[in-house]
Amino acid sequence: MSVTVRVPAKVNVQLAVGAARPDGFHDLANVFLAVGLYDEVTVTPADSLRITCSGPDAAQVPLDASNLAARAASALAARHGIAPDVHLHIDKDIPVAGALLACDALWGTGTPREDLLALCAELGSDVPFSLVGGAALGTGRGERLTPVEVGGTFHWVFAVADGGLSTPAVYREFDRLTAGARVPEPAASDALLDALRSGDPKALAASLSNDLQAPALALRPSLAATLAAGTEAGALAALVSGSGPTTAFLTEDAATAGRVAAALTASGTCRTARTAVSPVPGATVL
Ligand code: C5P
Repeated sequence: MSVTVRVPAKVNVQLAVGAARPDGFHDLANVFLAVGLYDEVTVTPADSLRITCSGPDAAQVPLDASNLAARAASALAARHGIAPDVHLHIDKDIPVAGALLACDALWGTGTPREDLLALCAELGSDVPFSLVGGAALGTGRGERLTPVEVGGTFHWVFAVADGGLSTPAVYREFDRLTAGARVPEPAASDALLDALRSGDPKALAASLSNDLQAPALALRPSLAATLAAGTEAGALAALVSGSGPTTAFLTEDAATAGRVAAALTASGTCRTARTAVSPVPGATVL
C-alpha cells in the first residue's frame, strides 16, 4: 500500500518585504499563484523512517533527519503519538506539504485542515501555500493566507538556473541593500489584485513586483542575462521568482510561452525552461 501526493510549484506575483523583525524574519505581503509544475512524494509503510530522492537535484537533497519532508512526517507522527515508520520517496524538489498530506492519508490520522496548515507553517513560511494552492495573499512571515480571486488562466515560463541560492542569504542581502533606508510596511498592491481578478496578462505584467529581485541579482548577477533573454524572446514581463534562482516569464498565451521557453533553453542562460499555467489546485492525493 502506498499514497502519492502531487504538489504544485508557485510563483510570487508580488513579494513586498518589510524591515527585519526581532525574530529575524521579515513581514511580507506575498501574493502566491500555484503553477502547473509538480513535485510528487510517495509514502509506503517501512520498518523505520527512510527517504529516497530522484531527479536532477537529487544529490543536493539531504536524506537524513534534517530533510524537511522527514521532519514533516515526524511532526505529524508526534502529534498523533505514532511512529513515523514510512519510506518517503521524493521526486525532484522537497514537497513538504505533500509529505504531510501523504502520511496523513497513509496513517488514516484524519488531521483537521487547520492543524495541517499549522504544521506546514512550522516547517517553512511558504509551505502552507503549497497545501492550499490556487492564489493567495500571505502576510506575517508569509504563512497567514487569504484567498485571492483570479479571473483567468495565465501562461508562464520558468527558467531553472544551475545551482541554488540560499533564501536566508538573499534576505540578508535585502537587509544590507536597505540599511539606513525607511522600509515601508509591506502591503498588497490594488493594481496587482485587480489584474489577477481581470485575468488580463498585460495588466498583470505591468504590476508584477519582487523586493527580493535586487538582492537576488546582486548575489547572482548572471540572472540578469536570463531575464533579458526571456524579454527579448517575447515575454510580457520577466522577474526573479521568490528568492531565486528560478526566473519567471509571463506571456500572452500558450503559443508564446512555448516560443519563449525554446528561446530561453537555446540562449544558454539557464539549465532548462518549462511552460506552466496558473492557477492550479494545491497538494492533491493521486
Ligand atoms: O520560513 P523559511 O524556513 O522558509 O525561511 C527561511 C529563511 O528565510 C529564514 O530563516 C529567514 O532567514 C528568511 N525569511 C525571512 N522572512 C520571511 C521568510 C523567510 O527573513 N518572511
